[in-house]
Amino acid sequence: MVRRQTDLIETPAVTTRAECEALDAADPLASLRQAFQLPRNIIYLDGNSLGACPKASLDRLSRAASNEWADGLIGSWNNAGWFELPRKAGEKIAKLIGAPEGSVIVADTISVNLFKLMAAALELRPNRRVVLTDNGNFPSDIYVLQGLLRHLGRGHELRVVAPEEVNAAIDETVAVVTLTDIDYRTSRRHEMASLTAAAHAAGALTVWDLAHSVGVVELDVEGSGVDFAVGCTYKYLNGGPGSPAFLYVAPDLQERVQSPISGWWGHAEPFAFDLSYQPAKGITRMQCGTQPMLSMAALDAALDIWKDVALTQVREKSLRLTGLLASLVARRCGQLGVELIGPTVQGERGGHVSFRYSSAFAVVQALIARGVVGDFRAPDVMRFGPSPLYIRFVDIWDAATRLEEVLSSREYEHPKFNRRRAVT
Ligand SMILES: Cc1ncc(COP(=O)(O)O)c(C=O)c1O
Repeated sequence: MVRRQTDLIETPAVTTRAECEALDAADPLASLRQAFQLPRNIIYLDGNSLGACPKASLDRLSRAASNEWADGLIGSWNNAGWFELPRKAGEKIAKLIGAPEGSVIVADTISVNLFKLMAAALELRPNRRVVLTDNGNFPSDIYVLQGLLRHLGRGHELRVVAPEEVNAAIDETVAVVTLTDIDYRTSRRHEMASLTAAAHAAGALTVWDLAHSVGVVELDVEGSGVDFAVGCTYKYLNGGPGSPAFLYVAPDLQERVQSPISGWWGHAEPFAFDLSYQPAKGITRMQCGTQPMLSMAALDAALDIWKDVALTQVREKSLRLTGLLASLVARRCGQLGVELIGPTVQGERGGHVSFRYSSAFAVVQALIARGVVGDFRAPDVMRFGPSPLYIRFVDIWDAATRLEEVLSSREYEHPKFNRRRAVT
């Protein structure tokens, strides 16, 4: 695996809370915490699921609702720049993923974007019948692939292999290799550049899902030769619940692809109301219909936080935070049955860190009751995604302390911590 300097960061051997305070005092990103509205007495380690709320997004939402919607009404499509917002926000995201100008647009959800890009990619490889993915992919991505291939009805095979077998499974029958860069459970990272090169060498295209990568690891989609990518904005980009996703199309492919959902927002002249579809130039053609402008406005404001943030520092701090949590949990909770899953080598881990424990669901609920918010992934995984923008080293120390308390007291066995609701 090609490593960046930040991947080699070692976790300092921390043995006291005071040492964590010292790390926070020296943290170049520490002041960014002020940009977020965080609830009091909560340690929020779920930034990999739903990011915290930026104060600027609240202001922007209020302006977008009162001034732009209530007062400006329909004129705001032009006067408040609503119609341009998906592209403008896309340019901000492009900088975070190493994409050139004009290659990213904010639209829809990951699921919809994956459907659009996979359909477009398969059209570019009409004589091949295999779509290759791995069993660490997010299940919803696999459902989308299954639905698309069934809908196409052209006898495509969805080949699902283990993550470490992807490289060997790429051959000249493969039309598209589609993978999620960072495993949502284990935090294992794929080698994006070398897998993309292997796909290209076999004549295949790549579609990457950057949901767990954008805003927490350094990415270089252009340098890695990526053809297509999707990602969401509600995790480390803090766009808000259900904020629209984004998609990337490499510049050399943009004029060669078409969206299967050829709606008016992707038309060259949407307001000509012509009866036949003419794709717009460039990335705009991958839009389909009207976008959620209040969500888009909140996201746009959240993206401004990144203006002066160096992703190298974000990655460096992220690795230190997850490395610290992994080492504290191993030291204090290892003998209580908690086991680290996923990479043990720092640079191979994404932005979250996960542990296996038989009663993981109940432990996560009991931790939430003690003010530490992580999440549970079936069947037995506790997952923690500390955003480097607003999580401190002392938070990690305190979270590990509370985890040890929850486990050793066995308070998680209380029935109230074992009741499952719709969203786990
Ligand atoms: C890796 C990954 N891919 C896809 C999705 C689904 O995204 P959406 O709900 O925007 O379609 C998620 C959601 O968390 C995800 O984590």
